[in-house]
Amino acid sequence: MTNWAGCSIRRVAEVDSTNRVARAWAREGAPHGAVVIANRQTAGRGRRGRQWSSAPDMGLWLSIIIRPKVEVQALTLLPLAAALAAADACTAASGAAVQIKWPNDILLEGRKLVGILVELEGSAAVIGIGINVRQQPQDFPPELQSRAGSLEMLTGHPVSMETLEQSLLLALEQYIDAWDFLPAYRTRCTTLGSAVQVVEVNGTFTGTAEGLDDTGALLVRDETSTLRRIWAADVSVRGLENGV
Ligand code: BTN
Repeated sequence: MTNWAGCSIRRVAEVDSTNRVARAWAREGAPHGAVVIANRQTAGRGRRGRQWSSAPDMGLWLSIIIRPKVEVQALTLLPLAAALAAADACTAASGAAVQIKWPNDILLEGRKLVGILVELEGSAAVIGIGINVRQQPQDFPPELQSRAGSLEMLTGHPVSMETLEQSLLLALEQYIDAWDFLPAYRTRCTTLGSAVQVVEVNGTFTGTAEGLDDTGALLVRDETSTLRRIWAADVSVRGLENGV
């Protein structure tokens, strides 16, 4: 049972983007923890202007409105809290030992299961979470078929959407209330300690992800031994092994 996460839920059959609807609702005064869930999104939004494939009843497409008590600068940590909560929920609902790729992708067997998009709306934040649950390879657009996966496709057994949703909201509430999730995040994030390729607007470099600072920025030692601070908003980081 949650205290505030999911205190008010709008369930809709079809929407362009649950993040867009949640942002509009936040402008109208939606309470902390209000949630929008859709069976299908026709224009699901991903990070860096990409689209998020959200076929009907294939996944959990959800946005939650947060009215943060922390300083606005600390909101860079919100995507990390969401990633941890989504990883816990995937494990609770499927038993799978999923991995977190910094900052907030969830992978299983090198395939992306979950995407998270945090957007600010005035003094509120909207956390949009998409979890692939029932897709088989042919259900993804061709360009994603080698990189995307779903919980059922990769575990081979049925997954309860209800368990997933409830576990997600509970974990999110606990991490946000305690606001002390960085140690747990560091333990679960498999990017840390790995060789990475960092793709910035004006170039690409490789190095080793050595740590995470208290703002959630990734610390990467490049090939000249310089420690570089990487913010999620500016870059894409790929593991060198599987290219995801
Ligand atoms: C990404 O990895 O690029 C982020 C994808 C975020 C997708 C979710 S699905 C629910 C919510 N509504 C949206 O339009 N996007 C997020």
